[in-house]
Amino acid sequence: MINKDGIGVYDSGVGGLTVFKELVEILPDEKFIYFGDLKNSPYGEKSKEELIKIGEKIFDFFASKNVKAVVMACNTTSALLYDKVKEEYDFKIYPVIQSVARDLALLDVESLGVFATDATINSHAYKNQILKYNQKMTVYEQACPNLVKIVESNDFCEQNIDIIRTDLQRMLLNKPEKIVLGCTHYPFLIDILSRFAPKDMFINPAEKFAQLIKEDLIKSNLINKESEFEQEFYVSKDAENFVNAAKMFYPVEKLPIIKNL
Ligand code: DGL
Repeated sequence: MINKDGIGVYDSGVGGLTVFKELVEILPDEKFIYFGDLKNSPYGEKSKEELIKIGEKIFDFFASKNVKAVVMACNTTSALLYDKVKEEYDFKIYPVIQSVARDLALLDVESLGVFATDATINSHAYKNQILKYNQKMTVYEQACPNLVKIVESNDFCEQNIDIIRTDLQRMLLNKPEKIVLGCTHYPFLIDILSRFAPKDMFINPAEKFAQLIKEDLIKSNLINKESEFEQEFYVSKDAENFVNAAKMFYPVEKLPIIKNL
C-alpha cells in the first residue's frame, strides 16, 4: 500500500526547516510542501485567537493540496492551535510538543530547561505535557523572543551573540540537566549556544519528532515507497529573505512561491 499525497509542513518562517531537514532525510520518497508564514511572523507575539485565524487558513491551503498529513513544526502553534484543529480535518496532524513530550519526560534526568517563544511559555504546553508522563520532572520554562528575530535576520553580530549568551546564562542559573530548544528557530543557534555550555546539553526535538512521524505514517499505511520525491516551498512574504536565511540549515534551491493567505 502506498500513498503518494504530499505532507504539509509549516512554521512562521525558516524555523520549520529544522524539522523539514530531518523529515526529508528519513522519508526520502515523500512529496513535501513547506509553508513559511513570514507575513505573520513572529508567531510568538500573537494571541491565541490570531494564531487560530492564521492557522486555519494554512490548514485550508494544505487541504486544497490534498495532503495526507500536516506537520505542525511550529511549537507555538502546537501549543495554541492543535486542540482547535485536531478534529477538523481528514488528514493526519502531527504537533511537535504533544508528539515529543513523552520522550522528554522519560529522559534519564531530573530537570529540564525549555527555551521557547512567549506564547509557548505562557501556555505552559511543554511543562504540562511533560508532567503528564513524569510528575517528578522539574521543568524550567524561559521565553527567548529575541532569538527568532536573530535567526530570521541571519545576523550574528556581537550584540546578537551577547543576547544569546545572556538568555542561556539566565537559564543556567536554574542548573537544568538538559535544555529543550522548544522553538524551531533555536536549533539554528546550537553552535553558538555550545560556545557557552556543552553541546550535548541541548535537545533539538526535531530529530525525535521526525522519527515519530515516520513510525506513525508506516503504522497508518500512509508511507510512499516509490521514488516520487518532490519539494514545494511557499511563503506569505519575502521569498528572497527566506532563501537567504534558509541557507544556514537547508538549501532551498528555487525561490519559493508567494502565497497570500
Ligand atoms: N518557530 C516557531 C516555534 O517553533 C515560532 C517562532 C515565532 O514566529 O515566534 O515556536
